[in-house]
Amino acid sequence: MRYKKRKYFLAGRINLIQRSKIRELFEKAKKMDDVISLGIGEPDFDTPQVIKEAAKRAIDEGYTHYTPNAGIPEFREAIAEYYKTHYKVDISPDDIIVTAGAYEATYLAFQTLLEQDDDVIIPDPAFVCYVEDAKIAEAGILRIPLREENEFQIDPDELVEAITKRTRMLVINYPNNPTGAVLKKRTVKAIADIAEDYNLYILSDEPYEHFLYEGAKHYPMIKYAPDNTILANSFSKTFAMTGWRLGFTIAPTQVIRDMIKLHAYVIGNVTSFIQIAGITALRDKRSWEALEAMRQTYAERRKLVLHHLNKMPHITPFRPKGAFYLWAKIDPELGMSSEDFADWLLENAGVVVIPGTAFGKAGEGWIRISYATKKSQLTEAMQRMNEALSKL
Ligand SMILES: Cc1ncc(COP(=O)(O)O)c(C=O)c1O
Repeated sequence: MRYKKRKYFLAGRINLIQRSKIRELFEKAKKMDDVISLGIGEPDFDTPQVIKEAAKRAIDEGYTHYTPNAGIPEFREAIAEYYKTHYKVDISPDDIIVTAGAYEATYLAFQTLLEQDDDVIIPDPAFVCYVEDAKIAEAGILRIPLREENEFQIDPDELVEAITKRTRMLVINYPNNPTGAVLKKRTVKAIADIAEDYNLYILSDEPYEHFLYEGAKHYPMIKYAPDNTILANSFSKTFAMTGWRLGFTIAPTQVIRDMIKLHAYVIGNVTSFIQIAGITALRDKRSWEALEAMRQTYAERRKLVLHHLNKMPHITPFRPKGAFYLWAKIDPELGMSSEDFADWLLENAGVVVIPGTAFGKAGEGWIRISYATKKSQLTEAMQRMNEALSKL
């Protein structure tokens, strides 16, 4: 179809959304030969077989119809059960909505909780979608920097200082994308206390909860601030199911009821047979065994990349305890911005990394390296980087 050349009148709000810088870099890399991408933020593993079989069976068994908007009751029960057995947290299945990944969960939270001109605190650096969600909600955005000396945890004192009468919500995401940082229990408790004292919502985005190393633990915010927390979670990373679009949100009953109103008109419900496969993912021990095997592989890759980066000139990695990313500092003496460095690395080493500024201004001077890539590729990328950097 060839459309007429004419001016289309579009809603102004759509122009508020910024195209991800990450995509631009990928597009440039696609036109080049022999490029290794350490940019991608998704597992390179296939979904465990037991989950795939469950989805196929569900189609044959007739799970091809609408489901309740909030999701299939048995699936929501399985999610509640999971929080009980894993974290000893009591959640009612009624306080859960099955969403199209964590993306939808965060979108629902912003749209449901923020009025125009309410402020939301978003740490810097942070995963890209929160700022865009805030813009679409026409909320004010306050960024608080995450510092290396705090191991990229939120500083509770800085958080209190940033709060004003207009602040309604704080976004946290641990284990963190892009830094790989985890939150210590005392920081989780401090944030929970602040949220209660100042009557703030905490949107806690926790899709990397299982990717933990060197004995690190995850403390779900909902356990420490149940009345204030909107939990976003996802099967995308946990069970290598990015393409399935399966996630959920847990929030206080009244909030969930309002989120469902929006979800009902945008998604209706998440695909029926995928929800059924989600029950298997949570209840079958084979999917947990597959997850543990993936975690161990990530742990080996993390060690390998850290080992190489620690020996490389002009780059210093932060030692992350979670997710599957390495956040590394560029030698300031090089006089290159993060974007310059990522471009230079692509052209001189054929390796894609993400400039830290894709995640906020505080990411200047840093890059994100994903190790969700095969060991052989990682080793080759590290050698290429070392060679290119040694010439500087
Ligand atoms: C921190 C974080 N939140 C949310 C998402 C979106 O994930 P989903 O596939 O569950 O929508 C991602 C994906 O990379 C992520 O890294």
